[in-house]
Amino acid sequence: MNSFLSIEKLTQRFPDGAGDELTVFEDASFGVEKGEFVVILGHSGCGKSTIMNILAGLAEPTSGVVKMDGELVRGPSLDRGVVFQNYSLLPWLTTLKNVTFGVQARYPDWSKAKVIAHATEFLAMVGLEGDVIRRKPSQLSGGMRQRVSIARAFANHPKLLLLDEPFGALDALTRGTIQDELLKIWGQMEQTVFMITHDIDEAILLADRILLMTNGPFARVAESVEITIPRPRNRTEIIEHPNYYAIRNHLVQFLGKRSKELSGQPSTPGETNRPTQVRIDKTIPADDPEDQQPALRAVNS
Ligand SMILES: Nc1ncnc2c1ncn2[C@@H]1O[C@H](COP(=O)(O)OP(=O)(O)OP(=O)(O)O)[C@@H](O)[C@H]1O
Ligand SMILES: [Mg+2]
Repeated sequence: MNSFLSIEKLTQRFPDGAGDELTVFEDASFGVEKGEFVVILGHSGCGKSTIMNILAGLAEPTSGVVKMDGELVRGPSLDRGVVFQNYSLLPWLTTLKNVTFGVQARYPDWSKAKVIAHATEFLAMVGLEGDVIRRKPSQLSGGMRQRVSIARAFANHPKLLLLDEPFGALDALTRGTIQDELLKIWGQMEQTVFMITHDIDEAILLADRILLMTNGPFARVAESVEITIPRPRNRTEIIEHPNYYAIRNHLVQFLGKRSKELSGQPSTPGETNRPTQVRIDKTIPADDPEDQQPALRAVNS
């Protein structure tokens, strides 16, 4: 496969603490195209963060490979920006320095003033302005720390942005603002985004495609659901699109039922385990057999 990001037969096993082995996922294979916004949804513990750590180059899989732009991913790189689930910041640096640190490494030719202006701009974008950017992480709230972590990743303009539940600790208002900013940056920068979230509505708002993961052990990336809702999307209008609830129901069904039914099955040797492509489009009547019987549906409703 020649995807921008190519995940090939990725397997992760860990010692289970009782002398045996836990297979988190086995032979997972999927691709992400350049400029694509892909969200992965799955229950707690299925292996999402583990996949992300491997994509970031921070963990080695038991077997399988990850390639970005045709090159094997080995170790961390400034080309891949990560926002961790636990928003790890450097505790000895101020908020501002937590951001300038990476910008300086990314753009070594920039003057100090330019680096500071750039970092300040991205911090302001996530609502951190004034004295607060001189504070150390320990003097910030959880939500503020998460925002620093987001600003830090965005400011470096990485080719691939890896986001592990980046908005989890944010209040609804800030969350909405940052989702909008993320879409804006993504639209401008031709960035590729791979994001984990537990929020189905957030996933539909942001993604080109949603990958659905079954429960572990032996979790699988079972489906790739295309979000057939045109951009630009707006959180209040999107729910009126005919595809919105059809897609949403499919996702809820998967997470509520099928993620369990499909779990725990080791892969068949030689099988590639690529996700099934799912495309739901109610705007094309032929796509939906029910739409061909409008009279029947009217009687039933
Ligand atoms: N270093 C490790 N050693 C042993 N087991 C691990 C290790 N890291 C993760 N696991 C196990 O692998 C499984 C997947 O963990 P992971 O953190 O990837 O889940 P997740 O899908 O991100 O869950 P959540 O939604 O709760 O963040 C879990 O059962 C976890 O206990
Ligand atoms: Mg996780």
